[in-house]
Amino acid sequence: MKIVGVGHYAPAHVVTNHDLEAWLDTTDEWITTRTGMKRRHWTSDNEATSDLASAAAEAALVHAGLQAADVDCFIVATVTPDYYFPATACLVATRLGVREKPAFDIAIACSGFIYGLTVASGLIRSGVYRRVMLIGAESLSKILDKGDRSTAILFGDGAGAVILERSEENSFLASDLGADGSRPELLYAHGSGSREPIDHAALDAKLHLIHMQGRETFKLAVNKMVESTGSVLSKANLTKADIAFLIPHQANKRIIDATARYLGLPDDKVVINISEYGNTSAASIPMALSETVRTGRVKPGDLIVFVAFGGGLSWGAVAWRWTA
Ligand code: UT7
Repeated sequence: MKIVGVGHYAPAHVVTNHDLEAWLDTTDEWITTRTGMKRRHWTSDNEATSDLASAAAEAALVHAGLQAADVDCFIVATVTPDYYFPATACLVATRLGVREKPAFDIAIACSGFIYGLTVASGLIRSGVYRRVMLIGAESLSKILDKGDRSTAILFGDGAGAVILERSEENSFLASDLGADGSRPELLYAHGSGSREPIDHAALDAKLHLIHMQGRETFKLAVNKMVESTGSVLSKANLTKADIAFLIPHQANKRIIDATARYLGLPDDKVVINISEYGNTSAASIPMALSETVRTGRVKPGDLIVFVAFGGGLSWGAVAWRWTA
């Protein structure tokens, strides 16, 4: 199997660090040095995750030279769906003009694309489907406490899509996934599910918005991303020296730099676009992949390692051989 098309989309509304200075006790200098972020894109009131996902999917279809009807299954990785249900993937498939094809969501936060790539690859390799559209899409600005400087500066909105197709070439080399639900409070939006149903008190306390213990999450992110990259390489019988590109989840440039340093990877092998988009959770890796492929940097035969860490806690890596 291989990837035959990639696409990405970010909403038009850009929020710069200087814009944030207008209502938060923060500075462009603090945000830049602590996170590497300069800008992020936020949806407008009348935009939702399925809008971003559909735009990215359309771009991937054009890139692949395919019609939506050529796709057998639609998967959206997101923790900011349009609704609790139906799944956002159902809305996206219909928006693309496709009826009665399978469509479902994967909700595993920042690791969504890694889990989705593993699931989609399994569906193709087992012969269930020939072509799968996998989209990572988020509207995190809709669940941000815009008055909390420790989270409001970090997150952005966007979508990235890939189309996977059965083929003689074997792009999927190995996957390493992990999860630990013992400390959900490190990164969660807890008030609004069945444990703490939303009510006026929960709304007033902003329990439905993102809460994060940043420093602790940071340390775990570096450890797990280094560990998972090592595991996936060993499963694929490869070494760090074989990596052409590391495409990590874009949570913080310092997390990415530390991960790359532990792995001994030079800057030109590490894809970073965090300055433009901030942390877009499940969308960050497919957006970065799409930008890297579309600018012609990726060559046939290149080994790409995708790696992520996020809410759950959850983490994972996929080793992928790029084929033309
Ligand atoms: O996507 C899933 C995974 N997510 C992550 O992995 C995110 C991981 N965490 C991080 O990226 C970082 O921990 C943050 C960017 C969230 C925070 O950076 P930090 O270097 O860990 O800062 P800190 O939380 O240790 O805070 C240091 C200081 C504090 O002030 P005091 O207590 O030292 O006086 C904060 O109140 O920085 C303050 N601070 C800010 N100052 C200006 C926190 N946010 C801001 C801000 N502007 N926006």
